[in-house]
Amino acid sequence: MTQNLPDGIVILDYGGQYCHLIARRVREMNVYSEILPSDSTATDIQTISKVMKPKGIILSGSPHSVNREGAPQLDLSILDIDLPILGLCYGLQLLANVYAGKIRKGAIREYGITFVNIKNPEGVLDGMDSMEEVWMSHGDTVFKAPENFKVLAYTDVCPVAAMKHVDKQIYGLQWHPEVVHTKHGKKMLRNFIFEVCKCSPNWKPLDAVELSIERIKEIVGNNQAIIALSGGVDSSVAAVLAARALDDKLVAIHVDHGLMRMNESEEVAKAFENRGLRLIVVNAQERFLKKLEEVTDPEQKRKIIGEEFIRVFEEEARKIGADYLIQGTIYPDRIESGITKDSDTIKTHHNVGGLPLSIEFKEIIEPLKDLYKDEVRALGEKLELPRSLIIRQPFPGPGLAVRLIGTITQEKLEILRKADAIVCQEIESLPNYDEIWQYFAVLTNTKTTGVKGDERAYGWTLAIRVVESVDAMTANFSKLHWDTLEKISNRVCNEIPHITRVVYDITHKPPATIEWE
Ligand code: XMP
Repeated sequence: MTQNLPDGIVILDYGGQYCHLIARRVREMNVYSEILPSDSTATDIQTISKVMKPKGIILSGSPHSVNREGAPQLDLSILDIDLPILGLCYGLQLLANVYAGKIRKGAIREYGITFVNIKNPEGVLDGMDSMEEVWMSHGDTVFKAPENFKVLAYTDVCPVAAMKHVDKQIYGLQWHPEVVHTKHGKKMLRNFIFEVCKCSPNWKPLDAVELSIERIKEIVGNNQAIIALSGGVDSSVAAVLAARALDDKLVAIHVDHGLMRMNESEEVAKAFENRGLRLIVVNAQERFLKKLEEVTDPEQKRKIIGEEFIRVFEEEARKIGADYLIQGTIYPDRIESGITKDSDTIKTHHNVGGLPLSIEFKEIIEPLKDLYKDEVRALGEKLELPRSLIIRQPFPGPGLAVRLIGTITQEKLEILRKADAIVCQEIESLPNYDEIWQYFAVLTNTKTTGVKGDERAYGWTLAIRVVESVDAMTANFSKLHWDTLEKISNRVCNEIPHITRVVYDITHKPPATIEWE
């Protein structure tokens, strides 16, 4: 019954970090969207017509370079199906390539907030000012538009920052309208979806709670499952969701790997007391630290921790007779681990890329795998989780191991735990601290000279990382008040004898990531 299908936008995934963000932005406008692999053809788009009426196509960004060998391309059959197309970043470069424009490889780079001159505010750029603030992240640049295209926007270093086919509804933007830092990005996408593609906003998001509960029930059936509960918002939401689906067929396992923050495991156990969830806290500190002895490479640390986690879960599962493992993996964990065909591995999140190849479980179930953190928090609210759990700052699976640069020792962990507790106390005493995404200490591997009580001291340098973010895909360092920073620094140096210097990390993401390793 084609007439009942929702209008939709197809997104071709070239591996860019923001691909799912595009899908989310479209769905937020009550228009259905599906992500297809980059090598999809016109036939694939026809196949998708079973679930939606495709009204337009968006080509995502990519870590690749269009002219480089093996770079993902656009199947030309897509151009024959006469649907409007919007190429974003790499997508624009692909269109320029297909229509014989000229691209310069890596000569000019633009990263971060950029001002573009809007020459022709039409179509996707309808209603834009003559100068717009946008988010750029590109190495290659289109310096000559193809013959049948006109330039809609340019910057000082990028002569073709936006272009449109003169006869067809084919657009390209060098920037990322899907990222919050593009001031009028939503309006640009709205223009494409409603004015160019003529979509009707006739899709309502399915009830994520019910859908996930049904899926977990279906998979686990009458068997037993365990859930990996770190106590962060993702695993907590996944645990409550899974408990609704499985009741007493579920046991939550919290592994204390010795890389936790101060009192963390005790707090997790307390938060889940009397919540109708069977919780086992496994003390695995020694075995993790032993495996990490002398390891300095961040990726190796992540892989070792991922492997060891699974081994602990397997042992616990064997005792209980559970065949399924449920994890609170969310979408950004997967994209940064390089799980899609054309994406780049930024870091292997321990619960995704860090998993060992052979696993005893019948299946790992990840009910939150397509969601972003803010959506997980919204789900948590719907599930009536306590606010303290919902606003809890994210904590990476590998814990303090990725915040302690170089080799990990008990002594250094103790120093870091104390320093981190001071940072947390001071930030949590600020009136609007719940607007901050993450705040933590990093123990660098650098010793510096100091003076304590008139004596020379030679101790560690501690870094403070405080960031604001919406979905962790991009982040800004917090412009904290000097008084706050001063208080943290004084307390750290006074209360922890081994630290002689405190520095504040003033790097956004990108180019840095939130965690140091
Ligand atoms: P990065 O450092 O990649 O972090 O900018 C983005 C967000 O993800 C968290 N993070 C992790 N979460 N397992 C997780 O569950 C991991 O291995 C991991 N590494 C980073 C990080 O704290 C930030 O919120």
